[in-house]
Amino acid sequence: MSDLSGKPISFWIDSTSTTNFSSLTNSVAVDVAIIGGGIAGLTAATLLKRAGKTVAVIESNRVITGVSGHTTAKVTSLHQLIYADLIKQVGEKKAQLYAESNQAAIERVAKFVEEEQIDCDFSRKSAYSFTESFDDLQQIKDEVEAAVKLGLPASFVQKTTLPFAIAGAVKFDNQAQFHVRKYLLHLAKRIPDNGSYVFENTRVQKIEEGEPCQVITDRETVRARDVIVATNLPILDQGLFFAKAYPKRSYIIAARIDPAKAPEGMFIGIGQNYQSIRTTPYQDGLLLLIGGEGHKVGTVSDTEERYLRLEAYARDRFGVDSFEYRWSTQDMYSFDKLPYIGKLTPFNHHIYVATGFSLWGMTKGTISGMLLKDLILGIENPWAELYDATRATPFVTPTSLKENVDVGVHWVGDRLKGLGTSVSQVANGQGKLVTVDSKQIAAYRDEQGTLHVVSAVCPHLGCIVNWNSAEKSWDCPCHGSRFSYDGKVIHGPSVKDLEKSAN
Ligand SMILES: Cc1cc2nc3c(=O)[nH]c(=O)nc-3n(C[C@H](O)[C@H](O)[C@H](O)COP(=O)(O)OP(=O)(O)OC[C@H]3O[C@@H](n4cnc5c(N)ncnc54)[C@H](O)[C@@H]3O)c2cc1C
Ligand code: FES
Repeated sequence: MSDLSGKPISFWIDSTSTTNFSSLTNSVAVDVAIIGGGIAGLTAATLLKRAGKTVAVIESNRVITGVSGHTTAKVTSLHQLIYADLIKQVGEKKAQLYAESNQAAIERVAKFVEEEQIDCDFSRKSAYSFTESFDDLQQIKDEVEAAVKLGLPASFVQKTTLPFAIAGAVKFDNQAQFHVRKYLLHLAKRIPDNGSYVFENTRVQKIEEGEPCQVITDRETVRARDVIVATNLPILDQGLFFAKAYPKRSYIIAARIDPAKAPEGMFIGIGQNYQSIRTTPYQDGLLLLIGGEGHKVGTVSDTEERYLRLEAYARDRFGVDSFEYRWSTQDMYSFDKLPYIGKLTPFNHHIYVATGFSLWGMTKGTISGMLLKDLILGIENPWAELYDATRATPFVTPTSLKENVDVGVHWVGDRLKGLGTSVSQVANGQGKLVTVDSKQIAAYRDEQGTLHVVSAVCPHLGCIVNWNSAEKSWDCPCHGSRFSYDGKVIHGPSVKDLEKSAN
């Protein structure tokens, strides 16, 4: 077994109480049904309810236990490096809208906190994107120049409170961080009342557009004039969002740190192999969070290695030696770096989506709520065109081609990769794909020796799942669905479990 340390649960979840909203036991009618109780869904629900609409948030699990319950929770418009590229890609005017909308989202969060006196460790911090390599310094300088041009609070610095030298960093002033669950639990608790609801443990399986729309769940039906699908990746295949974005999984570890030695601010490295760093209040001191080691979902089996590498980094750079928590989650990366927020397809009049936050959903999930509220109320919003979910997407870029080829390879190649072993070869604590009677079986033997076998075919679009050793889950490399070791769906887009299989 692994030497992983720390509780395998998100600090945000472990440090707050579990919610207890009831499931949908009778059909109801509301103005807006919102599928998914993460930051996008709960922000939209809050704003629509404030605007006088009745809403029903429908959550398959417990609210804020999806990606939003596992984030790093930096609330910033500094998204590693984006502005110099964005100006080249979409022009200065649109890049400006991106900058403004993300800044507006920070202020929206701050205003909720202030108006409702939300006790969520909200604090203003500077955000930094840094490099340790002088070879990358020009990228940093270009980003500062682009950000300043767009009116962002950016500057170039070469000294920070990190306990190691850097070559340079982009610094944004007056950004923010918070305890994401304390913030969102407050919003969630304010929703039920006066014809509005939050339903938990209720999985949406189908949505039929009409007047009203029918939201069909594994229990009863919700009728609504408008529907927002805020399930991270839309559970509906129309709109092809599974092909316009890809799921990326990353890891976080948390260690107690002496406040005198803790860095002040929120930090992220640039490039592919970066670390994301922040602190948060913890008991009578501080917890240091370090995230990173990202990869496409379902492409890595030895996920324990990822945590060990983060631990080594934390020891080496921050001198911490015992770890309190470790957890992991995934988000949808959009190929053009912009989220998709708006109508599901040009043919849908009442179904809306919000996805493709590319690991910056604290602001982009908030933007989604602000923008979708306006679209549903028929209010003009300057960000609508930029984030239009039906916009033509530049599919043919080197990145999108590679990612789609990867998906295709899994779809076709996976069918051929039966390992020819029998379930008797699966050791205790091990998960393995095996071929039995020419069927691909996902087999896991628990520590007590009990065998759990399910079909390895993902019910979403038929790819073959892959074992994730640290999480003890079956992860789909195609569009990121994840299933427990015994096949229960724990992350969409799949709305179904892996089929039970006889061994
Ligand atoms: C490691 C990591 C660190 C990150 N750190 C940051 C950060 O510091 N700052 C930042 O801005 N962003 C960060 N992000 C990104 C951010 O956390 C996400 O973009 C954001 O939380 C996504 O919110 P969401 O509402 O789309 O999804 P979720 O929070 O996942 O909400 C979707 C909900 O829909 C539910 N659902 C799914 N299917 C169904 C169904 N069929 N029926 C009913 N309900 C369903 C799910 O259970 C879930 O609760 C990070 C992401 C990762 C992976
Ligand atoms: S998530 Fe789409 S095929 Fe598995």
